[in-house]
Order: sequence, then structure tokens, then C-alpha cells
Amino acid sequence: MQLVKQLLPLLLPLGLLLPPALSLLPPPLPPSRSSSLSAVGKKASYSIALLEGDGIGPEISAATVSVLETVATAAGFGLSFTPALIGGAAIDAVQDPYPPATHAACEAADSILLACIGGYKWDSNPRDMRPETGLLAMRSRLGLFANLRPAKVLPQLIEASTLKREVVEGVDIMVVRELTGDVYFGEPKGIDVIDGERVGYNNMIYKESEIKRIARVAGNVASKRTGKLCSVDKANVLDVSQLWKDVTTDIMEEEFPAVDLSHMYVDNAAMQLIRWPKQFDTIVTGNIFGDILSDEASMLVGSLGMLPSASIGEPGGPGVFEPCHGSAPDIAGENKANPLAMILSAAMMLKYDLGRDEEAKMIEDAVEAVLDGGFRTADIKSDGDGCELLGCKEMGDKVSEMITSMVKA
Ligand code: IPM
Ligand code: MG
Repeated sequence: MQLVKQLLPLLLPLGLLLPPALSLLPPPLPPSRSSSLSAVGKKASYSIALLEGDGIGPEISAATVSVLETVATAAGFGLSFTPALIGGAAIDAVQDPYPPATHAACEAADSILLACIGGYKWDSNPRDMRPETGLLAMRSRLGLFANLRPAKVLPQLIEASTLKREVVEGVDIMVVRELTGDVYFGEPKGIDVIDGERVGYNNMIYKESEIKRIARVAGNVASKRTGKLCSVDKANVLDVSQLWKDVTTDIMEEEFPAVDLSHMYVDNAAMQLIRWPKQFDTIVTGNIFGDILSDEASMLVGSLGMLPSASIGEPGGPGVFEPCHGSAPDIAGENKANPLAMILSAAMMLKYDLGRDEEAKMIEDAVEAVLDGGFRTADIKSDGDGCELLGCKEMGDKVSEMITSMVKA
């Protein structure tokens, strides 16, 4: 039940997931079995670990921090940001993509706001010196096993999707991705020379306990939405997927009898997401399939630049709130990036980790109002849409101005 209360704030950014009136009462879970975001609750001031990362990270972080500061000033609470290095920036500075100082800053913080990591510059580094390794280390060491990625098509942005209006209009999907297991972390792994040639291998592996805990998060999330849950696997080929399917089925039958569970093979799911995405509500899947399908689902919305995400673990530690998109090195430093996904991630952070629902709503409302006002960054602007093109900083400023004028009104 605690999970239900704690996940609730996550479910309403931009009205992303469900109307507040919907019943929020899934079957009770023994507390020890549940997993949740770990709110610190309402305080007079908060410490945020700010991980700007690489590429467009510093620009979208600056825009997001200024929006957060506007909100904090308006609402009369304090925010302190502790910058910490991750990814390529950390490799350049201290030869470690997730330095001990960053881990310490994350553990000490009330919550963690992350921009994005990666870039061509580090792509051919040895694996332990790649930005992605830092992100994976952070997820693993902070125990963030559940990643929630909502993809809701906003009416203002339908034209920004590459798909037909009738296909995407009304799409509202939540991908619940397992984040600390699977082929991402499985052992053994490596590249060895066997019989005179190089052989590369990873291990797609899930323990029953890992499947159970993500299935419970998905059961709770689905219960609070339409009750429809699709578990995606490759059980026609993979043993690990057969276990995934069996365990997920058992958990739903035993603990979430009201959830309408279906199963789909991942290749079919990839196709169905494009063919008729409205058939999906909540999707639960493993780390690698979730990585791929969440990118795909996000494009239904028109741009990865709009989508926030939350990564959560067992109670007791801060969550990580970050946009779903990457570091876009091709436009880094050009003031062209869309900061809205990170701004909306900050709203999720306020709601969940910081107990500041009202202030989160201010941000969400301001973002909607800015879109309604016809302001767009390049990624969500279509030719002839009559909208005004804004840079990253200007988009952040617009959201801040909107918040200030909403507070005065
Ligand atoms: C994501 C990203 C990461 C992942 C990369 C950057 C390691 O694609 O968050 O989806 O694969 O999980
Ligand atoms: Mg990805």
C-alpha cells in the first residue's frame, strides 16, 4: 500500500498517466516485498545531486535549475544543488565514469537529477572508460531496479509524430523497464580468443527474485492505470524469458488478480507498437527489451525531447530523475536542445522524492501553457505550424516566466 501512495505522484506529470479520480487501490502487499520510490517528504530545503553529464546536458540542466529555482522562490523553500560528474565529463576529469565522489554525493542527496551522458569522443574507449559504464554503475550501486518511462501523446504535439494522427492520437503507454539485471549486468561476459578467433559473449540472466520485484512494481502501476498489463519477452526462444513469463504470471495471479495480464514476444511488440499503439497501456519487460521498446514508444509522442523518467529502488535511497533522451552531441552547445523532458523530470522529482506535489504541478501546468502558447524547440516544431521557435535557454525562461505569472495571477 505504501508503494501505491509513493508511486502516485509519479503518475500524473502533465496528466501523463491517469486521471486523479481513478481508484488507486491495488491489492495490499507486505511491506517487505514492495519496492518504491523513497520520498524524503516535505522539508524547508532540499539537497539535490545535479549530474549534468555530457553533450546537451549542461544546457538542459541550466534551464531546469532555473525553472526549479523559480518554483522554489515562489513557494518559499530552499534548494541546494551539488554538482557531480558522471559519464564522459567524469572520464575527462578523473578517469572514472562514476567516481566515488559522485556516488557519495548521490547517496547524501534527497534526490538526484541527471541530464544525459555519452558522446562520440568516448565511443572507442575501453568499456570501463565509457560514459555508459558510469550510468550503469550508478543504477546498479543505487539499486534502481525499476525504470518508469511514460509515453503519452500530447494533443499539442500530434503533428510532431512521424506516424499518422489516427494511429497516435490518444496513445498513453507506460513502459516499466527492469533496470539492474539482464544481459546488461549478467556474467560471464567478455571478448576472448577461442580456437584462434575472437568470441564476444554476454549472459542474459534473471533471478526469480529480480523478476518478482519488477512484476510487483508493474502490477501496482497497471492497477492504477487501466489495469491492463502486457509482459514482453522472447519465451519462444529464450529460457530466461520462459522464467520471466512464468514468474510474472504467478505474481499477477497471486497478488494482482484484477490486472488483465497478456504476454507478447518482443519482435511482435516492436511491430505492434508502430502498427496500433493504442492496444497498450502498461508494458513490463526486461532491461534490454525495455531499452529498445521505450525508445520506440517515445517516438510515438513525436520527440524523445519531451519524455521524463524515474528510476526507483527499494525504500531508503534517493531516486534518479532524468530525461529519456541521450546527450545529442551533434547539437551540443548550440542552444537548440529541448529542455522540457528534464524540466518534467524535475517535476517528477518534486512530486515524488521531495513531497512537493503542488510545486510539481506548477511546472507541469507551465509546460502545457507554454506549448499551448505555441512555443516550440526545433525537435517539436513542424513546418508551417505557426509556432515560434525557441532555443533551449529561451524555452527554460518561458517556463519560468509562465510559473511567475501563474503565481501572480
Ligand atoms: C537508456 C540508455 C542507456 C541504456 C545507455 C546510455 C547505457 O540507452 O537509459 O535507455 O542502455 O540503458
Ligand atoms: Mg536507451
